[in-house]
Amino acid sequence: MKIAIGSDHGGFKLKSEILEHIQSKGYEVSDFGCYSLESIDYPDVAHDISEAIMKGDYDKGILICGTGIGISIAANKVPGIRAALCGDCFSAKASREHNDANILAMGERVIGVGLAKMITDIWLTTEFEGGRHTGRIGKISDIECRYNRE
Ligand code: RB5
Repeated sequence: MKIAIGSDHGGFKLKSEILEHIQSKGYEVSDFGCYSLESIDYPDVAHDISEAIMKGDYDKGILICGTGIGISIAANKVPGIRAALCGDCFSAKASREHNDANILAMGERVIGVGLAKMITDIWLTTEFEGGRHTGRIGKISDIECRYNRE
């Protein structure tokens, strides 16, 4: 599984912890930045990672900002992206089983490192259940199509 990880300055420290954590578990992961605490705009990294996933270069993405809110809103503007902002393990599991989330978003200023690692582990190892959820994912795509008409 190829994973893309990225953050803005508000998520930089947690991103560094999660990057090291998932590398130590043997995942293949690319760091899309940012690379310091210098202020950057979260929509830029959200866009880079979302596009890379939609192109098929990566299977899943992890995005972190201060709250996880801005970066998940931005990622969800890219058709086909289902970014789930998770601050607990139950949501992390359900976002994979029910929503087939392809991006996990978290907020550095909201959750601690230990919980973020647990959420990440659960999210990366939980499979989509399919079944009744497949049609619902399809309806999300239908909404995107409706608004993407030229
Ligand atoms: C940056 O200060 C902060 O606004 C950003 O990291 C994020 O929380 C936005 O949603």
